[in-house]
Amino acid sequence: MVSCKYFSNCCDRWGRLAPFALILVFLSGCGEAPAIFDAAGQGAKQINSLWWLLFGLGSAVYVVVMGYLLLALYRRRQLTIDPIMAKDTVTEGNPEEDHLGSGNTRVVIWGGIIIPTLILLVVYGFTFRTLWALSANDQEADLTIEVIGHQWWWEVRYADHPIITANEIHIPVGQSVRIQLTSADVIHSFWVPELHGKLDMIPGRVNTIWIDADHPDEYWGICAEFCGTQHAKMFFLVIALPPAEFDAWLSEQQQAPPAPTAAVAQQGQQLFLDSACAKCHAIAGTSAKGRFGPDLTHLASRRTLASGILENNLDNLGAWLVDPQHFKSGNLMPASDLSNDELQAMLAYLQTLQ
Ligand code: CUA
Repeated sequence: MVSCKYFSNCCDRWGRLAPFALILVFLSGCGEAPAIFDAAGQGAKQINSLWWLLFGLGSAVYVVVMGYLLLALYRRRQLTIDPIMAKDTVTEGNPEEDHLGSGNTRVVIWGGIIIPTLILLVVYGFTFRTLWALSANDQEADLTIEVIGHQWWWEVRYADHPIITANEIHIPVGQSVRIQLTSADVIHSFWVPELHGKLDMIPGRVNTIWIDADHPDEYWGICAEFCGTQHAKMFFLVIALPPAEFDAWLSEQQQAPPAPTAAVAQQGQQLFLDSACAKCHAIAGTSAKGRFGPDLTHLASRRTLASGILENNLDNLGAWLVDPQHFKSGNLMPASDLSNDELQAMLAYLQTLQ
């Protein structure tokens, strides 16, 4: 009795919470998170179609099975309440045979073997077709980009242009882009839900994925393979531009940033080049050639800092420089010991890196 009462209370409580849980599920669909249903690339559209097929088949099977289950419960109840009446209404021949005999064998053969086999063959066929289309190795591409995973940021190199950047991948709208993926340390996974499925980035190996975007937009990408304590803070942006704007971006990126003209920015540049910053980061046109951290040549033109976790503005950049471990514990960038004046000079310089 005690346990019954406990379970009854417990069920009451969970019953009352259920609507809130349901609301949470629906609310989770709000916000800015990228969604596979907003497919904007060929790869994502094919995956989306397969998902809807699986959802449709799964729902149909669920409805039919639940229908039979309810029917069985109803008939069982009828038999229990009034066996004589149930016998009259439910059975017409030998009751043993009708409830346990050849009719049920047919149900098992059709419902348990033949129909599931047909459904699985359909699923297999469509899945295979989608996988085949997504992994075709001979796809032509208008542009090739190498993306290298690091703990916890993304290095981006344009194969046919002298451009190295970080955490943002600019692509031209409507063109096929070959992305060659690898990693500098542990296994990461490249995922832009609105453009394509996931693909692992494995040290010592190059995996290739083809993406395209059918309209100009900014598409969030995320790391989809646990890669250490800050895995959840490893984002990037794919920025799809109309071809003319993309070409303009390409030529801008190939220019070194202008030399700072203001005295404070010049002081900041000298600080940067004389300090450990230049050992880990590169800035085109200067003696900073480090490759441990992101290339900073056009830092000020990027949308975000620290691999998508902070908006790129002066306050955030200052806070990041002072204590990067506060935002992303365990990352390779040490806290700085700059005085306030030095920090302001450094920020003034970094702001010139357009
Ligand atoms: Cu990189 Cu998870």
